[in-house]
Amino acid sequence: MIEKYAEEKKAALSHFEKLLDEQLKRAERIKAVKDFTDYSTLDKLIIGVCGGDGIGPYICKVSEDVMRFMLADEIAAGKVEIRDIEGLTIENRAAAGKAIPDDVMAELKSCQVILKGPTTTPRAGDPWPNIESANVAMRKELDLFANMRPVKVPSLGIDWTFFRENTEGGYAVGSKGIKVNDELSMDFVVTTTEGTERIARLAFDYARKNGINRVDVVTKANVIKTTDGKFLSICKEIGKEYPEIALDDWYIDIMTAKLVDEKRRRDFRVMILPNLYGDILTDEAAEIQGGVGTAGSANIGKRYAMFEAIHGSAPRMVNEGRAEYADPCSMLRAVVMLLRHIGRVDKAEKLEKALDICMFEEAKVKITGRPDGATSAEFADYLKSKL
Ligand code: IPM
Ligand code: MG
Repeated sequence: MIEKYAEEKKAALSHFEKLLDEQLKRAERIKAVKDFTDYSTLDKLIIGVCGGDGIGPYICKVSEDVMRFMLADEIAAGKVEIRDIEGLTIENRAAAGKAIPDDVMAELKSCQVILKGPTTTPRAGDPWPNIESANVAMRKELDLFANMRPVKVPSLGIDWTFFRENTEGGYAVGSKGIKVNDELSMDFVVTTTEGTERIARLAFDYARKNGINRVDVVTKANVIKTTDGKFLSICKEIGKEYPEIALDDWYIDIMTAKLVDEKRRRDFRVMILPNLYGDILTDEAAEIQGGVGTAGSANIGKRYAMFEAIHGSAPRMVNEGRAEYADPCSMLRAVVMLLRHIGRVDKAEKLEKALDICMFEEAKVKITGRPDGATSAEFADYLKSKL
């Protein structure tokens, strides 16, 4: 009876074989890169800046200004170069029919670090071709395997750092699923040993370095047994290398509930999650902090690193003429992470402190996303006055 689908099965199997080959090759490739780039050995560090789409160019511009201000001495001394990269716009990506046009990819690869504004992610029914998200493509192509997303609300005792695996899970072949026939479609979830070990190590190292004695792993290993099961068991294995740190494991559904449980949520400090759960949980966490516009995100790989807001390009704000009122704090937090990542720890701390004053402690200039609040540029001036 199933034989009537012989043609569909053959096409699906051959597509699946290609996916398998790609993923087996990827697993080999990531195993081959051992060490992180040591920025202190570079004569000059190049930071690329792409504005992105929608509110992206607005919040990116003010963040780039603040970054230039923080690094002014090193830029003048020729130790740091900030390079504007044009062309990562949805119009160009649509015209090239590619998530990232080749010339833009080459420019990105000529930098060590990137500050990126949000980019529009097409989906079926949009005026754009349904190409892969530029974020996802960049994370994969530059192998930015760790998505680190801090969220804190000092007045509520919340201090969370999420380590979201950034290249695997549901995203690895998210735009290459199989439409077997009109009745049946299938997507795939990918977990590799190396891919999980490296994110787990980064999270445990972070906990150790910051004197945090607890790490929570969040999966749905009771249902997604093969890939989430592997993710969880590898995290537990890696955890044994850190005997002073306790590991607890949670399922994503109950963790989503616990983030709004005022009695329990303060206990969480460092969380490790597969890609999709990390995507979802960090939006919830950011909302608790004051909105997705307040949270930054570091995408870290061994050779490259990219820093961005956790949110999208907010086309609604642009359509309603509110782009200049967008909250730049997400990208300013990304600049803090960038500075820390390149070893400019003093500068990162200075900027972080000023941001804390402007966002939580004094909070004199309020961003509401609407004309009754400040513009991104006004907020940046307020911030600079505290630096
Ligand atoms: C994020 C975003 C992206 C993601 C989108 C824009 C593809 O939501 O960075 O969290 O899903 O990773
Ligand atoms: Mg997201």
